[in-house]
Amino acid sequence: MILLLTSGVAWTSSLSEFDATHIDKMRWEVSKYQGIADKIIDLAVHGAAQNQTYNRLANVTDKFGSRIAGSASLESAIDYMLSELIDDGLENVHGEDVMVPHWVRGKESATLLEPRLHPMAILGLGSSIATPSLGIKAEALVVKSFDELHKKAAQAKGKIIVYNQDWEGYSISGKYRTHGAVEAAKVGGVASLIRSVTPLSVYSPHTGHQDYSPNVTKIPTACITVEDAEMLYRMSNRGERILIHLQMSAQNLPPVKSRNTVAEIVGSKYPEQVVLVSGHFDSWDVGQGAMDDGGGAFISWQALSLVKRLGLCPKRTLRVVLWTAEEEGVIGGQAYYERHKGNISNYDLVMESDMGTFTPYGIQFSGNKAATTIMEGVVQLLKSINATQLSPHPVGGDIASWVKGGVPGATLLNENQDYFFYHHSDGDTMTVLDPHQLDLCAAVWAVVAYTIADLDEMLPR
Ligand SMILES: *[C@@H]1O[C@H](CO)[C@@H](O)[C@H](O)[C@H]1NC(C)=O
Ligand SMILES: *[C@@H]1O[C@H](CO)[C@@H](O)[C@H](O)[C@H]1NC(C)=O
Ligand SMILES: *[C@@H]1O[C@H](CO)[C@@H](O)[C@H](O)[C@H]1NC(C)=O
Ligand SMILES: *[C@@H]1O[C@H](CO)[C@@H](O)[C@H](O)[C@H]1NC(C)=O
Ligand SMILES: *[C@@H]1O[C@H](CO)[C@@H](O)[C@H](O)[C@H]1NC(C)=O
Ligand SMILES: [Zn+2]
Repeated sequence: MILLLTSGVAWTSSLSEFDATHIDKMRWEVSKYQGIADKIIDLAVHGAAQNQTYNRLANVTDKFGSRIAGSASLESAIDYMLSELIDDGLENVHGEDVMVPHWVRGKESATLLEPRLHPMAILGLGSSIATPSLGIKAEALVVKSFDELHKKAAQAKGKIIVYNQDWEGYSISGKYRTHGAVEAAKVGGVASLIRSVTPLSVYSPHTGHQDYSPNVTKIPTACITVEDAEMLYRMSNRGERILIHLQMSAQNLPPVKSRNTVAEIVGSKYPEQVVLVSGHFDSWDVGQGAMDDGGGAFISWQALSLVKRLGLCPKRTLRVVLWTAEEEGVIGGQAYYERHKGNISNYDLVMESDMGTFTPYGIQFSGNKAATTIMEGVVQLLKSINATQLSPHPVGGDIASWVKGGVPGATLLNENQDYFFYHHSDGDTMTVLDPHQLDLCAAVWAVVAYTIADLDEMLPR
């Protein structure tokens, strides 16, 4: 995931149009799906589909590796997915073209020259420009916050600005990654090095997106490890002169064509109405993009796969979308929204998993009071796998526009407290994922998507 642009909208509408009797009727209808839910759970967790999500994902990530927007590996992996989705018996399998940014990291290095010679692990940030070919050799100004930077603005000119911000959660600490270069350039900094946005480090740099601002000089920017950020901060507090040599050869090439990958089980009664399940298929160019967001993409495919394998055909269309170029700012998700928003009244529920596929607890949901009450009934179908929690405010950038437009939205609630240990780093590999946890997540995803897609009526909104 990138930094979230929008969070879910909490709806506070009255029950006037959708009275209590009506809700009771839908809750009763939901409860009749226990038998089907048990079959889905059994197939996914104990039956013939056991380990399938993991094995399918391992095949793809081992074969293609990481899948950054603009890369040949992403496009080859999409071609492979299209043929896999067809082989799986899904319908209307196709790619929808999207122009995406094409940033290439190139060679990069940072060496501490003073007070001690020390090569530092770095990862340039997506969209960063290069340094001149001989690099930038400059003294560092180390700060812990934007406030401290502004206080020390007079000392910043010509320096490499190093941020050693505390970990205060992704959205707060992530602002240093996203805006660190712009803030540094505004006070005359010539490059910025940012402490990786993670609560735990084993000397691992973590990359991610960063934004330049139209009227501010673009300077090269990269993440360093927590260990080096803290060391540089200690050196600075001792009054030591810190000299760094930074070399980056990153390139921002012209945009290229990529695709959102789409497949369906067409609804038997209301084919024009859609329940959408999704995850993003692109990743950063390090690790395998297994956790972020191979897991979310593949439980979404698995949801349709399980329904198909059981011979079930919901009344509404179940559609899986594997987004492209999420990491550069939900480019694929936004393109899909622009293309399909004319049909927003036919979108019953939009689901995205992009915050881990560890042991599932339930669902994060955004909808009005009536829809929430119905969804509370749906998660009760997941009692046998202990995934009955329903909490508000789904977090999913690719579905945010639909949710803003009033469509009920859902994301996966899971035991993801270690998510940022691996996020956007070389540590994001299949080793982080567990076959059984993926099976449980796929079961949650399939039960929720199928049940909502098969009810007599769409969720109230
Ligand atoms: C799934 O993997 C586990 C080991 O992780 C193994 O014990 C089990 O037999 C596998 N199930 C299937 C159906 O292959
Ligand atoms: C993984 O790929 C191998 C071929 O390389 C294939 O035999 C196997 O069926 C694939 N597994 C899954 C779960 O797709
Ligand atoms: C950039 O400068 C132009 C012209 O001075 C101004 O109109 C625009 O609002 C500025 N943009 C930003 C993001 O500050
Ligand atoms: C809107 O829905 C109709 C009916 O299912 C379909 O024919 C049309 O292609 C959809 N349009 C878009 C932009 O998705
Ligand atoms: C079920 O989940 C809750 C937290 O959601 C946890 O406290 C409890 O131990 C879990 N029970 C089982 C049997 O896994
Ligand atoms: Zn992601």
